[in-house]
Parts: sequence; C-alpha cells; structure tokens
Amino acid sequence: MADFENCVSCSSSPLELFERVTAQGEKVRSLKAGKASTDEIDAAVKLLLSLKVNYKTATGQDYKAGSPPVDFSPISNNGPTTIQDEDFVDPWTVQTSNAKGVDYDKLIVRFGSSKIDKELINRIERITGKTPHHFLRRGIFFSHRDMNQILDAYENKKPFYLYTGRGPSSEAMHVGHLIPFIFTKWLQEVFNVPLVIQLTDDEKYLWKDLTIQKACEYAIENAKDIIACGFDINKTFIFSDLDYLGMSSGFYKNVVKIQKHVTFNQVKGIFGFTDSDCIGKISFPAIQAAPSFSSSFPQIFKDKKDIQCLIPCAIDQDPYFRMTRDVAPRIGYLKPALLHSIFFPALQGAQTKMSASDPNSSIFLTDTPKQIKTKINKHAFSGGKDTIEEHRKYGGNCEVDVSYMYLTFFVEDDDKLEKMKQAYTSGALLTGELKKVLIETLQPLIAAHQQRRKQITDEMVKQFMTPRKLAFDF
Ligand code: TYM
Repeated sequence: MADFENCVSCSSSPLELFERVTAQGEKVRSLKAGKASTDEIDAAVKLLLSLKVNYKTATGQDYKAGSPPVDFSPISNNGPTTIQDEDFVDPWTVQTSNAKGVDYDKLIVRFGSSKIDKELINRIERITGKTPHHFLRRGIFFSHRDMNQILDAYENKKPFYLYTGRGPSSEAMHVGHLIPFIFTKWLQEVFNVPLVIQLTDDEKYLWKDLTIQKACEYAIENAKDIIACGFDINKTFIFSDLDYLGMSSGFYKNVVKIQKHVTFNQVKGIFGFTDSDCIGKISFPAIQAAPSFSSSFPQIFKDKKDIQCLIPCAIDQDPYFRMTRDVAPRIGYLKPALLHSIFFPALQGAQTKMSASDPNSSIFLTDTPKQIKTKINKHAFSGGKDTIEEHRKYGGNCEVDVSYMYLTFFVEDDDKLEKMKQAYTSGALLTGELKKVLIETLQPLIAAHQQRRKQITDEMVKQFMTPRKLAFDF
C-alpha cells in the first residue's frame, strides 16, 4: 500500500529521482482533481518541492517535466550526492533506513504540521504556571496543529476537551503505548479539562484476524491499563466503539455527516485503501474522526457543538486527523487541534516503532522483571563499540543507542540524563552499564503500573465506560 513517493525502498539515482518528482506531480494533480483535503494537498505540494530540490542537488539541473536527466553533474565535490530515502509513516507502518530514527523535521514538512518550538513551550509554561513536561522539553512531543488556538481559548477561559485513543489489538499494551497516555494525563491535570478515550475495537476487528468478542475483551483489558495511568474518573469517559455507537444519540449522526463529505478517492489518497479493501475499512476513518466533535458526546457537552478538541497522539495517527480537519468546516464544526509525539523505538533500533505485532520488538506492560532484563540485554540495539578498549577510546553513540533513547522517555531529571549521555559518549559508561540503568529504571516503573492495574476492578471499568455527565458544566 506504500505510495511511490513514500516508499522507503525507492532508490535515488537521478533517473529514479526524476520519476519520483514526476509521480509526485501527478499525485498533486490527482489530489486537486479529486478535491482532496487542503492539508493533504499542501503536504503533497511540500513533498513535491522538496523532491525537486533533491533532484537539483543530485543533478545540478532544474527538473523539467518530460525531460529525464541525460548528462548530470553532481553539485557536491565529494562524488554523487546521496539522497536519503524517504521515511514511511502511516497508522500501520513506521519504517526508515536511518538508525537514528525517522527524520521528524522532514515529516513536519511532508505532513504540513508545525514544530513545537521554544516559544510555544514557554507560552504553555507562562499560561499554566507549570514546568513543561519532559516530553515537551525534550522534543518527544515535537509537532502540533493549532495548539496556539487552544492556548488562546484557555487564556480566554473558554473550555476545550482532550481526545485520545487506543486500538485494542492485543491483551497487553507495550511501553510505547504509554507515551500518549502519560502525556494526556499531564495535560488533563494541568488544564483541568474533560477527556474522552476511544477504544477502536471495531477497527481491530476489521484489520486483524480477531473475532468481535475477542476485540471487545481486549478493549476491556486495555481500558484497565489506561485507567492504571491515573486518569480522574470524574473527568474521563472511556468508550468502546462497538458499545457506544449504538447507544449515543450524537455519535452516529456525526459519523454519517463525515461519511457524506469524504469521497472514496480522498481516503484512498490518505490511507492507501484499494478496491479490494472491505467497505468497513474504507468507512472506518469517519469513526475515528467523530470524537473530535463535541456533539458526539451530548451527555458531557449537552447541545454544545463548538467545544474545541485537542488530540494528543503519536504522529502515525495524523492521517485520520488531516481528514477530520478538512471535513470539519464543511459540516459546521471546529477543526481539532493536535499534539504529535515521536515514536518509542523498537528494541532492535529506531528504524521502526515498538509494535505489539512483533513481541521481540516490545517490552509489554505485563512483562516480569526477568523478562525486561533479558529483552533489554538480548535485543536492545547498542551504540557502543565492539570491544571495551575501543569503547573507552572512542565512546558510544547515543543517537542510535536504544537504551539511551528509552531513558530519554523515562528519566525525568535533566541533569541525570545529561550526565549519562556524557559518560556514555566519552566511553566512561559501558553498554552493559547503560543497559543496567535502563533495566533498573523500567523494572520498578512497570511493576508499579502492574500494582495499580491490579487495583482496577470491573466495577471501576464499568464506571469509566458509562456515558455520563463529567465534573464540568456545559
Ligand atoms: P494504537 O493502539 O496503535 O496506539 C495507541 C496510541 O499509542 C500511540 N503509539 C505510540 N506512541 C509512541 N511510540 C510507539 N511505538 C507507539 N505505538 C503506538 C499511537 O499513536 C496512539 O496515540 N487507531 C488508533 C486508536 C485511536 C486513537 C484515537 C489514537 C482512536 N482514536 C485518537 C490516538 C488519538 C490506534 O490503533 O492506536
């Protein structure tokens, strides 16, 4: 399903680059002809421009439609310029050839979002009076759409709400899944706003080899892990699609409105659906879009249709919300704002994200201390040198070292993290020692999560999942 322009395996000879520019030009034309979303067209145009720059850098010539490069002269004096393969990111696949991980700055350009810069972080600090979460300080949440609008609303005492979700594809969630939930909890505390959490059991039934019953069971098990993150029961509504859609008076109406305003061509362009995909998949994006509109939750927002929504998630979910933002004004709603995180990498390296479908790539929230230790020691990709002597002499490379990357997510103390980085880079700290620090960080963190999860009763899950008024008046 990879589009040609996004395909990681596309090579980069001048001729192939020429073909990529041509294909991207065609894509822009077809998106425009198919009345695709503005966000989608903007992103495609930005990619086209950057491909043209790459073409010129590689050949020294401007791209001319219909005139493939014949005799090209590289601009670089160091031989032909190598063009980095494009990273591939969509809701199902994250892949890059770069051991440092996805190039997120390029992704911002391609997706047409905005960088979370120092100015925005300072504004959040100024307005809330709270130290910005280390996910913000360290660029783990790195990109946004319209966050300034949310801050304007907050300053003007106008309400907004948070929306995030989980696709219950397995009984156990992994550590990467915690990232948006940890951050959402912080946002809920800092801004004191309602939160809705969608469990897309329908999505997982449609995409995976699962029965409806299994998908529903996984939704309940995952809800326990989410509740164990510490969400406030009076301010949080968790719902399973298979359950809530049939009982809400507002949700399905919004789904249908969205479905009426998005064409098959558009979702094909955004998600890569083909003619042989089942119609459930093709219409599903409307179901993930609907919670972005407050009228999907009349029990919380009464008849208010204009409460703005803020969605924290990893950037793989952005395609759903590009579609949502495009359709919103056409059905009389506000566009949701977004905060995007980078991916928590797979144990084997940052070329891909930690994924539940590859158990060896993941540390699960159900893992025992021994499993955590074995997985990290056995699989965590190291940026250290081959021998102790070489490591002491040249030092390790934190930019590709998975243990160090994981520590940036979970060690809150900036000084402590910086000291570890220096020690590893200088060679004073060995790979085994860095892994030990990670093991000793994750073991208690996961054990504490398991302890909290044990306290979550079926009754509590039922309360969180009952449609009801929350502790806010609308
Ligand atoms: P799912 O279950 O794949 O992922 C749940 C949330 O975790 C994020 N995520 C990650 N974050 C960091 N590192 C990783 N390795 C990693 N893997 C997953 C995802 O971006 C997501 O925020 N279709 C969605 C469910 C959903 C949703 C939403 C998510 C429905 N509505 C609104 C976010 C916001 C899904 O299958 O997520």
